[in-house]
Amino acid sequence: MNSAPGTATAIQQHQPVMPVQVLNGLCVKREGKYVDATYGRGGHSSLLLEHLNDEGRLLVIDRDPQAVSAARQRHGADPRVLIAEACFADLSETLDSHAWSKVDGVLMDLGVSSPQLDQAERGFSFMHDGPLDMRMSPDKGQSAADWVNSAELSDIATVLREYGEERQARRIAQAIIRHRESKPLQTTHELAELVAKVLGPSGRKLGKHPATRTFQAVRIHINDELGQLRIGLRAAMRVLRVGGRLAVISFHSLEDRIVKQTFKAASSKPAVNRRLPVPDMPEPEFFNHKRQLPGADEIVSNSRSRSAVLRVIERVREPLAGVLS
Ligand SMILES: C[S@@+](CC[C@H](N)C(=O)[O-])C[C@H]1O[C@@H](n2cnc3c(N)ncnc32)[C@H](O)[C@@H]1O
Repeated sequence: MNSAPGTATAIQQHQPVMPVQVLNGLCVKREGKYVDATYGRGGHSSLLLEHLNDEGRLLVIDRDPQAVSAARQRHGADPRVLIAEACFADLSETLDSHAWSKVDGVLMDLGVSSPQLDQAERGFSFMHDGPLDMRMSPDKGQSAADWVNSAELSDIATVLREYGEERQARRIAQAIIRHRESKPLQTTHELAELVAKVLGPSGRKLGKHPATRTFQAVRIHINDELGQLRIGLRAAMRVLRVGGRLAVISFHSLEDRIVKQTFKAASSKPAVNRRLPVPDMPEPEFFNHKRQLPGADEIVSNSRSRSAVLRVIERVREPLAGVLS
C-alpha cells in the first residue's frame, strides 16, 4: 500500500533532504520495521512508506507536539504507521511501549524543521520577530528568554563559544548581561539586534546574519541537542537487528563530529598494545558506510541541504554483552 505524499495541504511542508541517498542508505526492505525518529512534517516518512508493503511498519517520533499532530493528520489513517511524541534519546522506552524490540532501520534527520523556523511564535529564527523561545517541546524545560535572562556570564559565553563557534562569545555575553540589567530580553529581534550591534559590520561575513552563530548555540543548548544525539545514536544502534541500518543527517560540524566518532568507534576493533600478547578481539558489530553529501542539483533546489552530511552504519553482528550499553 502506498501513502499519497503531498496530500496534507493544510500542513506546512518540509522538503526532505537527500531523499534518494536516505532510502538507499537504509536499504529499505518492503516488509521491514522502521523508525523515523525525527518526523518533522513527514517528508522522509512518506518516502519510506512508499517502499513498504502492507506488512511493513513505521514508527514515527518527534519531540515537538506540532510535528506529532501533523503526523496524525498526514499519516494517522495509515494502518502501518505508529506515532509517538518522544525524544529520540528515549528510543528504547518508546519502542518498549509499542511492544517493538528490534528494527530494520532508524532515520535521524537532525535539527529544526522548516515550519519550526518559519513560525515566529516558536522563537527559533532571527528572521521573524517573536518570543525568544526555541524549545522543540514548548511545554518542557526553560525557554531561551528564561535562560539568557538568568544564566551566568561565563555560562552564556561558553555556550556561544562551544555550540556556536562564536569568537566574540564573551563580548556578546557581556552585552546580554548589560541589556538585561535594565530590561529582560524577550524577543528574537531584540537578541538579533544586540548581537549585530556587538559584532558591527564585520559580523556580516559571507552574507550570513551576524546572529546566526548565537541563535544556533542557544538553540542547541536549550534543546540539549548534542546530549540527545549522543544518547540517541547509542539507543538506535542497540535496537538494530543484524542487517539493520541507522542513517543520520547532520547539518553542522558539532553534530557530524559526534556521529562520525560514534560510528567509527563502533565499527573498529579496539586498539591493542602490540608488545603485549594479542587477546582474541571480537570482530566489530557494525560496518560504517562511506559518508554522503547532497548533489549540486539538490543544493540548488533545496538550499537547506547545502550543509547536510549523511552517515549510515549497519549492524553486521549480534550485540556482544556489555557493548554499547
Ligand atoms: C529536520 S526536521 C525533520 C524533517 C523530516 N525529516 C521531514 O522530512 O519532514 C527535525 C525534526 O526532528 C525533531 N527533533 C529534533 N530533535 C529531536 C529529538 N531529540 N527527539 C525527537 N525529535 C527531535 C524536531 O522537532 C523536528 O521536527
